[in-house]
Amino acid sequence: MKTEKKFLWGASLSAHQTEGAVDVDGKQPSVQDTRQRDNHEIADFTVAVDHFHHYQEDIDLLKGMGLTALRISFAWTRIIQADGGVNERGLKHYDDVIDYLLKQDILPIVTTYHFDLPDHLEQAGGWTNPDTVQAYSDYVEVLFKHFGDRVKHWLTINEPNIMLLADQKIVGFHRENPECYASFYNLMIAEKIAIKKCHELVEDGQIGPVPNISLVYPLSSKPADIRAALTFNAVRNWAYLDFSVKGRINPVLQAHLKDMGITLEIQPEHLELVQNNLPDFIGLNYYTSATVSFPQPGEAKLAGVSDQQSEDVYEPGAYKGVTNPFLKKNEFNWTLDPLGLQTTLEVTNDRYEIPIMITENGLGAYDELTADHQIHDQYRIDYLQQHLAAIEQAQKNGVPVCGYLPWSAIDLISVHEGIAKRYGFIYVDRTDKDVKELKRYPKDSYYWFKQVIEKGGL
Ligand code: BG6
Repeated sequence: MKTEKKFLWGASLSAHQTEGAVDVDGKQPSVQDTRQRDNHEIADFTVAVDHFHHYQEDIDLLKGMGLTALRISFAWTRIIQADGGVNERGLKHYDDVIDYLLKQDILPIVTTYHFDLPDHLEQAGGWTNPDTVQAYSDYVEVLFKHFGDRVKHWLTINEPNIMLLADQKIVGFHRENPECYASFYNLMIAEKIAIKKCHELVEDGQIGPVPNISLVYPLSSKPADIRAALTFNAVRNWAYLDFSVKGRINPVLQAHLKDMGITLEIQPEHLELVQNNLPDFIGLNYYTSATVSFPQPGEAKLAGVSDQQSEDVYEPGAYKGVTNPFLKKNEFNWTLDPLGLQTTLEVTNDRYEIPIMITENGLGAYDELTADHQIHDQYRIDYLQQHLAAIEQAQKNGVPVCGYLPWSAIDLISVHEGIAKRYGFIYVDRTDKDVKELKRYPKDSYYWFKQVIEKGGL
């Protein structure tokens, strides 16, 4: 990146998974507040881990771990009301958070929107409706004008690719929805507007997209499987980064859609916007690689999978997510592939050649709090250690990685599986059913990461 020379040692979180306080100080409902959850046993988000009221304590703990950067997100519905008005109390809360981070010498990296679309926009068609693009444009303009003097590092829209792939209606639309590609286009235009406005309104501002990028492997060397991987790599990964970084519609995606009778082109009135507003870096989220085969006619989708990031994908006549026979899985059925991260980084660099910030990477696990308030999460240390080794190897091979911000800074409510599936360096004492006192306890991984940061690497 232009101004940030030092490698950023950070961690990440999102507003709706941590803050709680869903109706405090004028916050209005987002899709995360209104969505029907498939698993009714999981914690709701009304309290989450109450980061809204605990942010100082949490930042103090993160400072103690030695973090130099923290990725947070702003809740759109805390800041902009359904009638378009700006909620000053929402701005004030984030002023306090940003000022406290800066006081602690922690660089704030802000995602403008992380899965929490205002519910009234969803009711009007969500991202299929171009009015949502206008609403997002108005929202980010408020952000850049208000926070641009203090926040110089921005991320646009968290994982538009996972939003479009998710089977469950977590973010506003289904993959099977034929309007999916209208949403794709609108999301990508919205992202371009954010890039343009950030560069216009934030002095020395830097901004990047933040997709979830995982290299897609073919199950075998069968030519049809290779084509399935080519297609799914385009659909899952390159469509998004090509639009952001190269200002084009990915040609493999375009041909794939044409086969289905869908024309996807950059509209003439958007050409200048798309081609002339390029990001400063790529924010890259990585948990697992993906493997696909070419489905035979009538072949069913893989049954009983809970990995929405790789195996739970299927387009008849194109690709089908499968279990990779060479890789192990975690307790939640997510495939573990640290070498896949190295390869993903090298391929991403080969295609785009701009700095990469790892904005999410982590292990969801059932943690146990001992009677003396310790959490022995050696499995998480192993995961992070292996992935960090992969990053270091990618750096040696020439990939300009500018920061490592694992998921997550503190325990939070998993999007799909409640608080029982924990990611944090800091344990928050609550269960799905009992909010308890929400006390915070550093895990073993907290002390491990502190040492890594002190040494400047493994
Ligand atoms: C990422 C999201 O895709 O995956 C996070 O950006 C999410 O918000 C993370 O928490 C892990 O997924 P899950 O379903 O385990 O919470």
